[in-house]
Amino acid sequence: MSILVTGGAGYIGSHTCVELLNEGYQIVVLDNFYNSKPQSIKRIKELTGKDFPFYECDILDREGLRKVFKENNIDCVIHFAGLKAVGESVKIPLKYYYNNVTGTIVLCEVMAEYGCKNIVFSSSATVYGMPKKMPMTETDPVDIAGITNPYGRTKLMIEEMLRDVYRSDNEWNIALLRYFNPIGAHESGKLGEDPNGIPNNLMPYISQVAIGKLPVLSIYGDDYPTHDGTGVRDYIHVVDLAKGHVKAVEWINLKKGVDAFNLGTGTGYSVLDLVNSFSKVNDIKINYKIVGRRAGDIAVCYSDPAKAKEVLGWTAQLGIDDMCRDTWRWQKLNPNGFDE
Ligand code: NAD
Ligand code: WQD
Repeated sequence: MSILVTGGAGYIGSHTCVELLNEGYQIVVLDNFYNSKPQSIKRIKELTGKDFPFYECDILDREGLRKVFKENNIDCVIHFAGLKAVGESVKIPLKYYYNNVTGTIVLCEVMAEYGCKNIVFSSSATVYGMPKKMPMTETDPVDIAGITNPYGRTKLMIEEMLRDVYRSDNEWNIALLRYFNPIGAHESGKLGEDPNGIPNNLMPYISQVAIGKLPVLSIYGDDYPTHDGTGVRDYIHVVDLAKGHVKAVEWINLKKGVDAFNLGTGTGYSVLDLVNSFSKVNDIKINYKIVGRRAGDIAVCYSDPAKAKEVLGWTAQLGIDDMCRDTWRWQKLNPNGFDE
């Protein structure tokens, strides 16, 4: 079985390639390196000892995609390629809609041309918008008007679009995977998150403070209704998340149509819990200061992962200490990310 991984050079895609190869799948990878480096492809090959075709290609490039499908017998696509910076999406929304929504349309059209109607899509907990209850379950209503940024709206639009594709043609099989907060790195220290510029997300920020690249972590608010006043999230180890994709491919093979699944641990940790765990397991003090709340943030967000367990047979195995330990190993061994 051959799987095309779009955005396979990126953070979650690269870890998923490793898990797929380790499970014996054939993969074909494409990426335009907009937010990643060729080095990650080299590392996937080193780590697994396996080779695979790679295409430097944009999902908006129809002819480029056709070449990939023509030269390979693709059974299923795992579709990571997309832009993901929430703040940037507010500033340049059209770029987000074009890349994420139009890119997915072009991809699906080319898939259909080549008779490939199986897709696993990287969605996000952000589709739930401002939550009315916790934990979040897949049956909670999703409403475009309740989503606070264009990035999140692209994810819900794509989910709805893919559901329409299925309604129009029941030969499609579509897994919509709603990730919570992926953090951590491969335990080898060879793969991890390599953000451009100053990180927007908490864990890469903590690890850059730890390595001395940034002086101090700003904690956005300590007056939320949580156990210590800081925001609570469902952090999930990227390797657990990657394994969830292998399970989703197995589910796709059962030809079950379209469905959405939360991929999270089901446990919420606060900003201070994460800082304290990072300090404890790595024996490093993290400088931080409390500042005002970040616009658009919610107090608490965590998943009910029961459906993924029941239907996909997937449960997260790794805990917050593993996430902190592996992040730090990656950061220490690669202080400049994939730039060698
Ligand atoms: P990433 O930026 O590391 O990976 C995305 C990859 O897609 C990058 O390598 C980028 O170069 C590539 N890409 C972007 N646009 C492309 C295009 N038009 N053509 C070809 N390649 C393109 O991000 P990630 O964290 O690995 O996220 C992967 C997917 O998961 C994204 O769709 C993201 O929205 C989604 N997601 C991520 C998170 C998170 O917190 N990291 C949470 C929920 C959902
Ligand atoms: C986590 C917590 C912050 C940075 C985002 C996207 C979401 C998804 C995952 C893609 C919050 C606090 C953060 C900092 C801080 N991505 N924080 N200081 O906001 O839950 O989710 O990434 O789909 O769509 O919105 O993640 O890591 O930015 O924040 O105090 O420097 O850390 O306030 O409580 P978030 P995050």
